Amino acid sequence: MLEITWYSELDSTNAFALNQPDLPEGTVIASDFQSAGRGRLGRTWQSPRGLNLYFSLVLYPRLARHQWGGFSLAAGVAMAAGLAKLGLQPQLKWPNDLLICRRKLGGILLEAKDNRLVVGIGVNVNQDSFPPELAATSLKLETGLTWQREAVLTQLASEGFSWCGTWDQGDYEAVISAWREYDTVLGNAVSVVRGSQSIKGKAVDIGPGGELIVLDDDGNRQILHSGEVTLNKS
Ligand code: BTN
Repeated sequence: MLEITWYSELDSTNAFALNQPDLPEGTVIASDFQSAGRGRLGRTWQSPRGLNLYFSLVLYPRLARHQWGGFSLAAGVAMAAGLAKLGLQPQLKWPNDLLICRRKLGGILLEAKDNRLVVGIGVNVNQDSFPPELAATSLKLETGLTWQREAVLTQLASEGFSWCGTWDQGDYEAVISAWREYDTVLGNAVSVVRGSQSIKGKAVDIGPGGELIVLDDDGNRQILHSGEVTLNKS
């Protein structure tokens, strides 16, 4: 069952959900504002007050820890499926960017502590301007409508638990085939930055554990568990 608690201000919903003892599975921590919102790769997630969704789902997976990375794909599929049910046409960029018309609508940050997995999700809802370098968008910019954030949160959080449950039960193929429906990367020329390494090639598939498979320009099959993907013009 969903248990949503909405705070007016937190440093980060992920930090709160990681540090608060005894939160049961099914907990959703949401905040109107984050003073220290976290993005991937140590970046800051700008979290202006009252405009967007910033929330974290609390899970206690049964799967072994090395299989937890796939929850990022499951959460991405959940966000896309939830938004599609609201009449939008979302896209996914591996490993965890939510896009509309190739502009960033939201992102997912997984963090873990002991046996707890926190799936942090930011979705731009009613923000109507962004610095151009972010190439970002929002539900409002895409539809011209002001959205009721509570309703969007309920839809997305319930899809989130449902798709993460599918992954946790080991039905990886269900998640990966749903991912393919929304994917923007497969079949395209890409560059992937992983630490100090950069790989150029063609994204050819998603592996059974959610890995991105790239055929690099030297003809080697690279199996990527993490990285930052840029689509290149081919
Ligand atoms: C990304 O870099 O694309 C991931 C962004 C994740 C942001 C969300 S907002 C709610 C949750 N709390 C955080 O501090 N970060 C995540």
